[in-house]
Amino acid sequence: MHYIEKEEVISLLDMPGCVPLMRDVLMDYCAGRVIQPLRSVMPIDPRRLLGMMPSANLATGIAGVKVLSVFLDNFQKGLPSHQGTVILFDAENGRLKALLDADAITGIRTAAVSAAATDALARPDAHTLCILGSGLQAHRHLEAIRLVRDLREVRVWDVFPDSVQRYKTEMEAKFGIPVVDCSQNVRAAVEGADIVCTVTSAKEPILFGAHVSPGTHINAVGACGAAVRELDTEAVRKGRLFCDSRESCMNEAGDLLIPLKKGELKEDHLLGEIGLVLSGQLPGRTSAEDITIFESQGLAAEDLAAASYVYSKYGQP
Ligand SMILES: NC(=O)c1ccc[n+]([C@@H]2O[C@H](COP(=O)([O-])OP(=O)(O)OC[C@H]3O[C@@H](n4cnc5c(N)ncnc54)[C@H](O)[C@@H]3O)[C@@H](O)[C@H]2O)c1
Repeated sequence: MHYIEKEEVISLLDMPGCVPLMRDVLMDYCAGRVIQPLRSVMPIDPRRLLGMMPSANLATGIAGVKVLSVFLDNFQKGLPSHQGTVILFDAENGRLKALLDADAITGIRTAAVSAAATDALARPDAHTLCILGSGLQAHRHLEAIRLVRDLREVRVWDVFPDSVQRYKTEMEAKFGIPVVDCSQNVRAAVEGADIVCTVTSAKEPILFGAHVSPGTHINAVGACGAAVRELDTEAVRKGRLFCDSRESCMNEAGDLLIPLKKGELKEDHLLGEIGLVLSGQLPGRTSAEDITIFESQGLAAEDLAAASYVYSKYGQP
């Protein structure tokens, strides 16, 4: 049995390899090739929880569990908000194969999933990326989205201006794409952007429909819980809405569940799972003017596929 630490996971889970891997997992999930109960979440309080996410993929023979803590206020303490392990089993004989750092896997696979969704839903000529948030996912999302679209400008907003400045310096040096500091003005960040990623631990809306321009694609990633949301009702209403898992979305996605509860939207506003769009069974974007939304809750099958990919490369010369 191996323990694969954070730095090793980061070096082995390359983003260009992870994006197509996630595309395949999302299609496997929709095709019924994945066994996966709704994750079990135990809140310690609203900002601290423990989660357990089992999954088995019948197509790839990959099985295991992600076990993690999500402590949302760790960001202000300079600590990772997600910590834990992915436990990988041999699906043939049940042997425990490896434990892998969950923070690194979560960080990379989530952005790779968004990139796969963006590739399916964003306009081909999308060049301007807006990122709301400047934490781990904000870093990973720029790294991933630039693989599927020719990005010429990145705009970033956060409630912490110092964090935006650090993000700008680091990302411009790493990728050579101009990053505009929009920490004073979320509207300036969002208006006219071709792709918007919401990657914050906000509880109340930070993305407003009034600011979203026709033709935009939105990856709604940060709000994982029925009582929290990043998108206001108008933002959700304006978009063609897709999700990773209908079951997860109808139980955990406050972006949709809060407007449903208030009677502001109907359940059929959710058009379906992105895996169906990726496999050509469901229309995604129908015109250059459409606003599209990918609601991401995160699936254990994604973690296990990424863990297996890392394991297959581990120890190789
Ligand atoms: N959908 C998925 O699969 C998935 C996977 C991983 C993380 N997440 C979620 O994405 C979010 C970001 O994750 P991360 O790893 O980048 O976390 P992080 O702790 O590194 O960053 C959190 C970000 O949220 C911002 N923030 C905190 N409070 C805020 C508020 N009240 N309003 C606006 N912004 C606020 C912080 O400034 C920071 O930019 C978390 O909510 C996390 O649970 C989702």
